[in-house]
Amino acid sequence: MKAIVYTKYGTPDALVLIETDKPVPKPDEVLIKVYAVSLNDWDYGLLQGDPINRLLNGLLKPKIQILGSDVAGRIEAVGDNVKNFRPGDEVFGDLSGRWGGLAQYVCAPENLLALKSAKMTFEEAASIPQAAMLAVQGLIDVGKIQSGQKLLINGAGGGVGTFGLQLARLFDVEVTGVDNPGKLEMLHSLGFDHVIDYTKEDFTSNGQQYDLILDAKTNRSMFDYTRALRPGGTYVTVGGSIARLLQALILGPFISMINGKKIRIVALKANKDLAYMNELFEAGKIKPVIDGPYKLEEVPETFRLFGKGDHKGKVVITVDHK
Ligand SMILES: NC(=O)c1ccc[n+]([C@@H]2O[C@H](COP(=O)([O-])OP(=O)(O)OC[C@H]3O[C@@H](n4cnc5c(N)ncnc54)[C@H](OP(=O)(O)O)[C@@H]3O)[C@@H](O)[C@H]2O)c1
Repeated sequence: MKAIVYTKYGTPDALVLIETDKPVPKPDEVLIKVYAVSLNDWDYGLLQGDPINRLLNGLLKPKIQILGSDVAGRIEAVGDNVKNFRPGDEVFGDLSGRWGGLAQYVCAPENLLALKSAKMTFEEAASIPQAAMLAVQGLIDVGKIQSGQKLLINGAGGGVGTFGLQLARLFDVEVTGVDNPGKLEMLHSLGFDHVIDYTKEDFTSNGQQYDLILDAKTNRSMFDYTRALRPGGTYVTVGGSIARLLQALILGPFISMINGKKIRIVALKANKDLAYMNELFEAGKIKPVIDGPYKLEEVPETFRLFGKGDHKGKVVITVDHK
């Protein structure tokens, strides 16, 4: 099969298209013929080999050499102990921790997968798992979003932000999106009520306050964020700078005690809400924002695009089998 591999940490130049053996499913695994895969911030971190990702995937060189977690495809074969899927089923899911999605075939345990809606393309399905789960869990489970609120999404033009806006639209809320100038037009057309260009305006010191902040970047002090929260408001981070996340973890409880504003961190429950996303998609409430789709041989270029932050929504790769 064709696959994109990397054998050393570094830049997208380390990603190479090769022919390699098709994986064989273990008894509790399925073999998926991959039709589409999307990129996540985690793939980029694993390519670069920052200290935390080296702890996960090898100190000196990557142990798992095929990246790609968010896949959609058709089941080609099932192991003897697999109960819920059959060959021919169309599935999607987040394979983080195992990765391997940037290839024509990948194996996965059945608990990481869900049937995809027949109305969804493989590209739409592959765009959903990680970013949409973070948005659902950040806004609904942790943020407890309610109609009548003012919401701000920081990092609004990426995967989490573009799903986040559409989820927010299930409620009657006023939504502000923060991102770079190249994405503001797209944010307006997606339906953000207000947009802020972070190169020109600092939303933590412009006098505006919000009931709920969803942050996909987390590059500021928790004290800055609480300044932008209304009394009783909630700040929810899904990820960003490790130092800032540690600050959220350590200072969050004290900040709540002092001023009643809540600081929350989302610990992703992978794949938990895939069935909910099928429902929303079929009801016309969610339409993934896709950058691409690109081809497998264009993967190094897509990582460059992602690294520069020039992507809009989810970067998706179509995997062809011709
Ligand atoms: N909590 C968990 O368990 C968990 C699990 C997996 C992933 N994550 C995290 O979840 C996040 C994924 O978010 P995503 O998929 O939406 O990422 P993404 O697609 O990269 O989007 C992030 C957006 O933020 C923008 N941005 C960059 N700098 C900014 C700034 N200073 N202020 C405002 N916006 C800024 C980026 O645009 P430009 O760069 O072009 O400016 C981009 O549009 C990552 O932080 C990842 O580490 C968390």
